[in-house]
Amino acid sequence: MDLDVTHPALSDLRRTARSRMPHFAFEYLDSGTGTEKGVTHNRARLDEVRFMPAILRGEFTPSLTRSTLGVEHALPFGIAPVGMAGLLWPDAERILARAAADHRIPYGQSTVAAATPEDTGPLAGEMGWFQHYPVRDPEIRRDMLRRIEASGWRVLVVTVDVPGESRRERQRRAHVSMPPVMTPKIVASIMARPAWAMGVLKHGQPTMKFPNSYGPQAKGKDAFVHAGRLIRGFPDDGYIRALREEWKGPLVVKGVADPADAARLIEMGVDAIWVSNHSGRQFEGGPAAIDCLPPVIEAVGGRVPVYFCSGVQGGLDILRALALGAEFVFLGKAWYFALAAFGRRGVDHLVHMLKSDMVSNMTQIGAASLDDLPGRLIPAQRG
Ligand SMILES: Cc1cc2nc3c(=O)[nH]c(=O)nc-3n(C[C@H](O)[C@H](O)[C@H](O)COP(=O)(O)O)c2cc1C
Repeated sequence: MDLDVTHPALSDLRRTARSRMPHFAFEYLDSGTGTEKGVTHNRARLDEVRFMPAILRGEFTPSLTRSTLGVEHALPFGIAPVGMAGLLWPDAERILARAAADHRIPYGQSTVAAATPEDTGPLAGEMGWFQHYPVRDPEIRRDMLRRIEASGWRVLVVTVDVPGESRRERQRRAHVSMPPVMTPKIVASIMARPAWAMGVLKHGQPTMKFPNSYGPQAKGKDAFVHAGRLIRGFPDDGYIRALREEWKGPLVVKGVADPADAARLIEMGVDAIWVSNHSGRQFEGGPAAIDCLPPVIEAVGGRVPVYFCSGVQGGLDILRALALGAEFVFLGKAWYFALAAFGRRGVDHLVHMLKSDMVSNMTQIGAASLDDLPGRLIPAQRG
């Protein structure tokens, strides 16, 4: 099957993923919170960022390499951290960590992944970015950081846009729970997806292995309740300062929307700011993530790099965020649509798709390098 013909767009991968994932897993992956206005608003505002086409530029080959935090990457996009990735597709963490190393793009792994830092750190190598959810107990935090560092993770990303649970009504309707409670409906949805079910049989039931390693060895639902309590810290500025003391490598703060926060975080010594609204999964009443990017960039004033995610669906969206000043762009759901649709082959195809979409759009607007992008934005759309 030629995926370039059968699955030329992310929407094609999403459709195939849906046919291979149990309903509850797909809903966990795909849904926003509330009425999903946050999701549609992210999309609508990305569409408003437009470029002027260029003519008579002769022949050129756009270059896509980009360095950030001292390391050169083959491409300016990466894999955002996604919790319980192994529930979305069995063994997702290992497959994505390897793929990221092969493609030289960052691999973000969540605190609440179904793999430990030791499982995947060596696979991701230099491309490993570990995501940290604030934990209550400073002793546990320090031990987590020690293990993350010892297993080779280069960058620590602390996520701050989950100050509490979001209702996620669509997930409730789909009976999403961690772990899945085996109601007849859930069992039926698993039986309807044999590739997923066989994968779980092979790799074992996904659990939040890392936080669980700190508690009483609870099983089943208790293990998730335990992990939930453990990770649910309520961070303040002091928490970021403590992390800054304890983590010697690059420290990134993810989930920033307000330029005033960005300025404060730089004073605390963070190495990069990541603009995101968690893809509309937490709060639908805020600004579109892309609208937060220019004010944050301005507040940061070039002192540290700024990253972007939330709603990116193709190469053109990546160009939009880069043109507005993001140094790097991340995608979350897209990788899991690709993985559930075709396994590792799907992930490689997604990289190819994003890359060729970037190249073809850069050719249309006469951008030979990523640095040319801001100059091709239609001025009315800047800022
Ligand atoms: C199923 C799912 C789980 C997620 N879990 C986490 C997480 O554990 N930690 C985190 O920092 N972000 C998490 N995110 C947010 C992503 O890192 C990222 O911000 C978002 O998915 C980007 O938007 P996109 O999916 O539209 O590309 C999650 C997103 C999804 C879709």
